[in-house]
Amino acid sequence: MKLLIINGPNLNLLGTREPDTYGKESFEDYFSKLQFKFRETELSYYQSNIEGELIDRLQQADMEFDGVILNAAAYTHTSIGIGDAVKAIGIPVVEVHISNTFSREQFRHKSYISANAKGIIIGFGLSSYDLAINSFLIK
Ligand code: DQA
Repeated sequence: MKLLIINGPNLNLLGTREPDTYGKESFEDYFSKLQFKFRETELSYYQSNIEGELIDRLQQADMEFDGVILNAAAYTHTSIGIGDAVKAIGIPVVEVHISNTFSREQFRHKSYISANAKGIIIGFGLSSYDLAINSFLIK
């Protein structure tokens, strides 16, 4: 099983960005733990702050991976383009969020991704990614 984790804008700052909301661990450190925990799964990671680059990576992933775990961060709430890319590709996409977006501001309640996601995992801290990987492994 080959899975790609895609993180959107400002998630490169995990560990230092709003630690009360997003925790104190960098994604690189957490990703190493995921790779160790899911040794049988081929995990890759991509992050960009640029909307078009996220769309390009989703399109390329269609040929390369069995599934995508996508945290589009703020673009979740604004990007019809990323939503369309999720719809356009043939592989399943699981939408994840670290924080519970529904317990936050109203503008975070809207997602352009959810309608075309295989499923949604929201609000479990970094463990949201762990749960998303598991969602691909359950038979
Ligand atoms: C986020 C939630 C978004 O509303 C926010 O813009 C982010 C991170 C999350 O993982 O909780 O950057 O996607």
